[in-house]
Amino acid sequence: MIIGIVGDTHNNLKNISKICEIFNAEEVDLVIHTGDVTLPKSLKAFEKLNCKLLGVFGNNDIDEKNDLLETSNQFKCNLHDEPFSFKLSNKKITIVHHPELINESLIDQSDFIFHGHTHRYRNEVINETIIFNPGECAGFLKGKNQIGILDIENPPPKVINF
Ligand code: NI
Repeated sequence: MIIGIVGDTHNNLKNISKICEIFNAEEVDLVIHTGDVTLPKSLKAFEKLNCKLLGVFGNNDIDEKNDLLETSNQFKCNLHDEPFSFKLSNKKITIVHHPELINESLIDQSDFIFHGHTHRYRNEVINETIIFNPGECAGFLKGKNQIGILDIENPPPKVINF
């Protein structure tokens, strides 16, 4: 099971298009978005994905929450309030936007925790839990862009720069 991890794409439609192309080429089974899609039209741009998109709301998604939810119903997409945990291939995955929500109990109950908000790369192991943020996905910081790919059965996650 291969998953793609992306976050904080904001309204960079060009990047979102590129990100979808990369994930489709990598034939990922699921894409996780760690929040801050921001506008419904930006969420809609993820419709190009060949797989389902699963995400949490970030601080920049709150104003548009209802419209984002409505848009998520138009394609294979589910958005949730953070923290959101689910099981995949017998592994427990937790998605948050804000890293400050990551605490001991969340670490105890998760094999993988994905977060966003900082636009900074993080790939850290705490008590055997992998905490990962792919980093800059919207080109805000020095024109850098990267996304994450994880084979659930064969960690750690790796990054793809674009
Ligand atoms: Ni944020």
